[in-house]
Amino acid sequence: MKIENSLTRFILRGLFAAGVCVAGAVLGASSALAQADPLADAKYVGEKRCLGCHQVENKHFGHTTHAKVFRQNPKNETEKSVCEACHGPGSKHAIDKNAGNKDFLISFTKEWGTPVEKQNAQCLNCHSGDQRIHWPGSTHDTNKIACSDCHNPMARFSASGLLKKPSITETCQTCHQQQRAEFQKRSHMPVPEGKMTCADCHNPHGSVTRPLLKADTVNEVCYPCHAEKRGPLLWEHAPVRENCLNCHGPHGSNHDKLLVASRPQICQQCHSPSVGHPGTFYNASATAAAGQIGGAAGQRVIGRSCQNCHSTIHGSNHPAGARFQR
Ligand code: HEC
Ligand code: HEC
Ligand code: HEC
Ligand code: HEC
Ligand code: HEC
Ligand code: HEC
Ligand code: HEC
Ligand code: HEC
Ligand code: HEC
Ligand code: HEC
Repeated sequence: MKIENSLTRFILRGLFAAGVCVAGAVLGASSALAQADPLADAKYVGEKRCLGCHQVENKHFGHTTHAKVFRQNPKNETEKSVCEACHGPGSKHAIDKNAGNKDFLISFTKEWGTPVEKQNAQCLNCHSGDQRIHWPGSTHDTNKIACSDCHNPMARFSASGLLKKPSITETCQTCHQQQRAEFQKRSHMPVPEGKMTCADCHNPHGSVTRPLLKADTVNEVCYPCHAEKRGPLLWEHAPVRENCLNCHGPHGSNHDKLLVASRPQICQQCHSPSVGHPGTFYNASATAAAGQIGGAAGQRVIGRSCQNCHSTIHGSNHPAGARFQR
């Protein structure tokens, strides 16, 4: 009975798959015919034609990298066409009665409705590879983010990178409100202060690591700026070598030093307070936390708790540093 069932299912599935294949092929062929690229027989007309009707847009465009390179030092015919290098061949659009026809022009505004893949393909004609080697299939690609969601090549809004906003971080924060909020917390790296940006740790164009990290591991993201944590050290603290995020949040925390929990809880996630050792100290701190002892001196000691004695928490090079006390 069981065998029969699964056998039937197997056959049915096979038939179904075959049917879908045939239907798919027929559908594919007919829709390809129906949706033949309306720009297939369009011609490049050159930027003079465009400027006849688009002087206003050209005012700001003139100050961009593309305008300078394409006009002064074009490498090929596409670059020489300037506007059409991005917007596609314009012979059909550049006629008064056709100008509103959305099939006759590749545009990058939401209102115009050119499919995102088609928009991005225009840019990738010249910008595939390098930083964008992992763009295909990246989170931004699969979420249908357009190059023009972050870039606006029509004007120089940013000092570099032709971004939509004056800075990288502001560009990212148009969509990533949660991370923006995290960077407002008490402890954070100087991103809101403009001393570093989201792109110091992430590659928005795609990467081999989630979530779009710039390096192969979290720690490799951190080491370039925190070189003293890289080691190798004589005495390694295992969780440090494994992943900085065992103890730190990357974006922000209300605990000092970007810690993911307060002290000493941060240590006790992994080390149970044993009888005898730190016990004495720990009990005192617990008592203080309950408000039974106080005073500035007491608070200072308790605030650092385990690290009063275990001060080299990221590892030690001292011959006697096995317990991270020096
Ligand atoms: C005869 C005048 C004319 C010429 C020539 C012309 N355009 Fe346009 N273009 C228009 C008009 C009018 C619109 C606005 C259409 C609308 O919004 O309905 C427009 C809109 C556009 C848009 C904006 C689409 C959007 O997303 O809103 C782009 C991009 C554009 N043109 C590029 C070009 C390029 C590139 C050329 C040269 C190949 C060119 N145009 C030549 C008249 C012209
Ligand atoms: C490097 C690619 C590129 C080149 C070259 C380029 N454009 Fe654009 N254009 C874009 C993108 C991307 C947008 C969408 C900007 C946005 O997000 O609003 C755009 C938008 C436009 C718009 C819509 C209104 C606006 O300003 O946002 C017009 C009109 C236009 N371009 C015309 C032109 C003309 C005319 C030229 C040549 C003088 C030109 N473009 C050259 C990429 C390009
Ligand atoms: C015909 C080729 C071509 C196309 C199409 C093209 N670009 Fe470019 N782009 C260039 C060249 C050439 C440069 C100059 C720098 C260089 O040599 O890489 C450049 C530079 C840039 C820069 C760096 C600018 C700076 O000032 O730092 C950005 C960002 C950029 N392009 C984005 C885009 C986007 C987004 C699109 C699509 C809307 C696009 N490009 C379409 C050729 C192209
Ligand atoms: C999520 C935002 C985002 C998206 C989407 C995005 N970029 Fe960028 N891009 C950036 C940032 C940030 C920079 C760095 C700017 C700087 O250094 O000032 C950059 C830099 C660039 C540069 C100049 C540096 C280089 O790599 O040569 C080019 C060219 C470029 N992007 C092309 C593209 C193209 C093409 C696409 C679409 C396939 C795209 N970008 C999509 C954010 C984005
Ligand atoms: C137009 C909106 C938009 C902009 C602008 C934007 N992103 Fe995103 N980003 C998304 C969406 C949508 C996702 C996927 C859903 C999510 O995780 O929120 C995403 C996901 C991510 C992720 C998580 C990737 C993963 O694998 O889980 C990172 C990291 C990221 N973006 C970084 C950036 C950075 C850095 C910038 C600026 C250079 C930026 N984004 C700009 C829309 C945007
Ligand atoms: C100091 C490095 C660093 C900076 C700067 C940074 N990030 Fe991240 N980001 C990370 C790391 C590491 C993760 C992975 C977190 C994890 O795995 O739990 C991450 C995760 C993310 C995610 C995935 C969801 C999440 O929150 O875990 C998004 C989206 C993101 N970052 C966006 C941003 C944006 C936007 C900015 C700028 C405002 C930014 N990041 C700045 C290192 C950084
Ligand atoms: C582009 C450089 C850069 C990168 C990459 C970077 N940091 Fe930082 N980090 C800084 C700077 C700058 C400060 C602030 C130093 C100061 O104020 O003295 C800082 C401060 C810190 C602090 C102390 C925060 C405080 O409140 O005092 C911690 C913890 C930290 N980073 C962890 C990390 C971790 C974990 C990573 C990797 C996910 C990382 N950093 C990646 C530049 C960087
Ligand atoms: C086992 C938990 C733990 C791990 C894992 C960890 N840290 Fe820390 N980190 C701490 C504690 C606790 C402090 C606060 C030290 C203090 O106040 O004396 C700190 C402070 C820092 C500081 C600021 C003070 C200083 O020492 O420069 C930086 C920067 C830092 N960590 C970077 C990193 C980096 C980078 C990694 C990964 C290689 C990492 N941390 C992994 C617990 C950890
Ligand atoms: C994510 C888990 C984790 C966290 C959080 C953590 N540790 Fe550790 N710690 C370990 C591991 C694993 C070892 C290695 C134990 C071993 O080799 O037997 C270790 C070793 C140690 C040692 C040396 C012990 C020995 O036997 O060699 C000390 C001391 C220590 N940790 C103190 C701390 C302190 C203080 C904190 C808080 C700032 C802390 N740890 C946070 C996991 C953690
Ligand atoms: C008053 C100083 C002091 C404080 C505070 C302290 N320790 Fe220790 N700890 C020591 C000494 C001394 C040793 C070494 C014992 C030995 O070598 O046999 C040690 C050893 C350790 C070890 C190694 C394993 C063991 O039990 O011998 C771990 C893990 C450890 N401490 C974690 C912690 C944690 C977690 C805290 C905070 C809750 C803490 N310590 C607070 C002094 C202290």
